[in-house]
Amino acid sequence: MKVAVIGAAGGIGQALALLLKNRLPAGSDLALYDIAPVTPGVAVDLSHIPTPVTIKGFSGEDPTPALEGADVVLISAGVARKPGMDRSDLFNVNAGIVRSLSEKIADVCPKALIGIITNPVNTTVAIAAEVLKAKGVYDKNRLFGITTLDIIRSETFVAELKGKDPSNVRVPVIGGHSGVTILPLLSQVEGVEFTEEEVAALTPRIQNAGTEVVEAKAGGGSATLSMGQAACRFGLALVRAAQGEKDVVECAYVEGDGKYARFFAQPVRLGKDGVEEILDHGPLSAFEQEALDSMLDTLRKDITLGEEFVK
Ligand code: APR
Repeated sequence: MKVAVIGAAGGIGQALALLLKNRLPAGSDLALYDIAPVTPGVAVDLSHIPTPVTIKGFSGEDPTPALEGADVVLISAGVARKPGMDRSDLFNVNAGIVRSLSEKIADVCPKALIGIITNPVNTTVAIAAEVLKAKGVYDKNRLFGITTLDIIRSETFVAELKGKDPSNVRVPVIGGHSGVTILPLLSQVEGVEFTEEEVAALTPRIQNAGTEVVEAKAGGGSATLSMGQAACRFGLALVRAAQGEKDVVECAYVEGDGKYARFFAQPVRLGKDGVEEILDHGPLSAFEQEALDSMLDTLRKDITLGEEFVK
């Protein structure tokens, strides 16, 4: 397996590259690309870690050498949030970056599984889809918005609140990856009951957890280490499924049946060609149903913004 990390010199990219160097299966290749000149050095630094994963780093204008032969491409290239910004404020810069990287992927590794981290994910995934489509290589089963950070945050916060071991807590999160479009299905957490007050407090905490980090870093950045961990979890799930492991299920933002919106985060079973099956999100509580109904307008507008950007 060859995994390419694009934006690899950044806060997320370096954390992700470190985790992948340690956790990819033996014999894997890891390629790092970033416009920043330090990137080959990041790869040399990581290459001194004794794991059976080969690593190379590339910088400059052209991501081609990193993308050549890639089975999985994880994209965190872009600008990060500063205090006072929400994810949609990143749109103007990051939209152009995702567009040009998607064009390169279409030319160099059109069969790769693509995981998008660059925000606003609700919109950047639509941009990538439209670019790949215009190039005639779009396969909706191979394109993912990585929403795993919402899941790991949910698992952590639920475990904290209920005194559980976080490694045993599973929380499906559906919808999108920004504000009210993030919908943790707390009614489905096994072995845990929540009061209405707890749901009413925990849901917005999960939705706004990114802001918690942006404010705590006080101008120094947004979530990087936890996002690196989340992207590693999702990237490894793609790799395990691509290598034939059965029953690999994660929530991700994908193009499904369009019941709610063209792209929607939901549980998916992964296989060697990406999405194997979109799984039902299960019964919703009245609170969750209302949250779902009221997010759809926002989510659909985010998606249209991406589609229009490419057109
Ligand atoms: N190609 C490759 N890399 C690029 C490009 C490009 N066209 N444009 C910018 N980059 C690189 C930058 O050089 C930098 O190293 O992307 C990296 C971004 O790193 P940071 O500024 O540290 O940002 P980070 O916190 O990693 O977040 C990146 O992910 O979740 C999102 O909202 C976040 O959109 C932001 C992105």
